[in-house]
Amino acid sequence: MFGFGLRRKFEATKREIGFRFANTFAKPNPNLTSIYFKPSDMCEPDRIMLYALIRGLRPARVLEIGARWGGGARIISSALEDSGFGKAVGIDPEPKNFRPTPKELFHRYELMTGYSPGAIPAAVEKLGGKIDLAFIDAMHTHDHVLADFEGVIPFMAEGSHVLLHDTFHVGINQAIEEVLNANPSFVDCGFVTRYPNIMDNAPVAYEGLRLVRTSTPANHATMKSVYDLMGKTASLSPEHKNWDHYWNRVNRSSAG
Ligand SMILES: C[S@@+](CC[C@H](N)C(=O)[O-])C[C@H]1O[C@@H](n2cnc3c(N)ncnc32)[C@H](O)[C@@H]1O
Repeated sequence: MFGFGLRRKFEATKREIGFRFANTFAKPNPNLTSIYFKPSDMCEPDRIMLYALIRGLRPARVLEIGARWGGGARIISSALEDSGFGKAVGIDPEPKNFRPTPKELFHRYELMTGYSPGAIPAAVEKLGGKIDLAFIDAMHTHDHVLADFEGVIPFMAEGSHVLLHDTFHVGINQAIEEVLNANPSFVDCGFVTRYPNIMDNAPVAYEGLRLVRTSTPANHATMKSVYDLMGKTASLSPEHKNWDHYWNRVNRSSAG
C-alpha cells in the first residue's frame, strides 16, 4: 500500500510518538515515596541523590554504616527493589530506633547491631561478598569517619563507590582528603549534593553527600559488565563511533 519512502516515514513518526508519549499515562513509581518518608536525618536533595545513586550505579551489595530510624534504609531498599536485585546490610549500635519492617524494606535490608569499624567484616559476611557501595553516615567526627572509611577499604569490590554523608563538616572533609591522599588510585567524584546545614549553635556544618570511587574508571569494563548483566551485547568498537538512530535518519533523509 505504501511506497518504501512513505512507509519509512510512517514508521519513524510512530516511533517518535511512542518515545514522546509512552509514559504519559503511566502511574508514578510508589517506591519513590520512601524518599519523602520521615523520619530521616537527611535533607531532601540528599535523599533524592541517595536513591538516584543506588538506582543508577546498580550495586548488588550495599553497606550502610549508621542506620538510626531507617530513613536511609527505606531509600536504599526501594532503589534496590526498583533495580530488581541487590541486598543491603546496616550497622548500628542502637537498633531500638530502627522503624521499618522487613516487608517495608522488601526483605532486602538487614540491620546488624554493632559498632563500625569492628562490625564491618561480619556485615560483609552477611552481604555474601565484597561491597559495591558503602554509605558512611555514623559518628560525625574526623576520627570516626576516618576509621569507618579505612575500615571498608579492604572489603570494597573492584570499581565500587564509597558515599559519605555530612561532608560539609570540616572534620569529615579532612578525613576524606586523608584517605584520598593515602590511596592515589581512588577517584574523588566530589560533592554530589550542595545543601549544607549551617547551624547557629555549632561551629561545623552538616549535610552534603560526597562520592569516592575506589579505582580509576575502566569504562569499557564497566559498559561490558552492565551489558552482560542485561544479557545483551552492544558494540565497543570505534567503527561505530558515529552510529546514532537520529543522525542516521536525518542523514538518510537529507541524502534524499
Ligand atoms: C545520622 S544517624 C544515621 C542516619 C541514617 N543513615 C539515615 O540516612 O537515616 C547516625 C547513626 O549512627 C549510629 N552510630 C554511631 N556510632 C556508630 C558506629 N561506630 N557504627 C555504626 N553506627 C554508629 C548512631 O547510633 C546513629 O543511629
